[in-house]
Amino acid sequence: MTPASDSLSFANRIHGTTRVLAVIGHPVAHSFSPAMQNAALAARGLDLCYVAFDVNPEAVGDAVRAVCALKMSGMNVTVPHKEAVIPFLDELSEEASRVGAVNTIQNVDGRLIGHNTDVYGILAALRETAGLATLPSTVAILGASGAARGVTYAVCSRPEVATVRLFNRTPEKAESLAREMSAWTAATLEAHPLTPDALREGLADAGLLINATSVGMHPYSDASPVPDGVGLHPGLVTYDIVFNPPVTRLMRQARAAGGRAYCGADMLVHQGARAFEIWTGLTPSIEVMKSVFTPAPEG
Ligand code: ATR
Repeated sequence: MTPASDSLSFANRIHGTTRVLAVIGHPVAHSFSPAMQNAALAARGLDLCYVAFDVNPEAVGDAVRAVCALKMSGMNVTVPHKEAVIPFLDELSEEASRVGAVNTIQNVDGRLIGHNTDVYGILAALRETAGLATLPSTVAILGASGAARGVTYAVCSRPEVATVRLFNRTPEKAESLAREMSAWTAATLEAHPLTPDALREGLADAGLLINATSVGMHPYSDASPVPDGVGLHPGLVTYDIVFNPPVTRLMRQARAAGGRAYCGADMLVHQGARAFEIWTGLTPSIEVMKSVFTPAPEG
């Protein structure tokens, strides 16, 4: 497309009837969601557009109230507002309430419902991308903050998972997350420090390792949450929720040990696809949504 036909097609998409979707975050300029959602909305021919708003923490309530005032179809919420939006909502889905974080707001005739589609996103990515329709019985998760809470809830919701090992630099946070999730899941949760010895022991019989820390993310892509010399094994599938860079140091370590490893791009796509379904009642094209990412090499 030429720049002129680009601007023409943009102008043709926005009308007096066009309703707005948005993501709020702080900062938010780096977000892939506008490109991904607008591509999917355009492919479906829907009279909706999606923008990003940088919202300061003290303005979160005003931003959520704007969903009703502006009759927006809904909103995505990203770091650092996923918990802060909750007091301004009318209802929470079960998973949003148990995770304690909302990444998708649905406007149902002025009633605001909070969802957490990160939970769907990680399970869909494990199923579709990593080929894990059934999860292994022992799963190791690195991290214990916001992202790890969603991942842990998702893994614990699967009846085939018997043991979940949480590893965190600050072990008290892993202990408190393990206690909280143990209140409702049949899986046994263990909390460990993120140390070479604990990892060596805890990964030996695990079938799936999920990195839910921010370690290894651009611009610190030389870092890995797993120290060299900790035995990753060929039977261990590694899912790194970091997607920039698309091949993280942890993924390289896992592949060098003979295992399969995937980055978090597809989790982002699937959480966005689920949000799209919540807002529109329609299924978006996953292929169109994926096309905004540089494809990660196969694991
Ligand atoms: P948040 O503000 O949500 O806590 P964060 O500081 O990026 O975000 O941390 C996210 C996760 O990555 C946490 O589990 C954090 O461990 P702590 O709970 O001990 O802070 C983990 N994390 C961040 N940097 C780390 C590092 N250099 N080594 C190990 N874990 C790290």
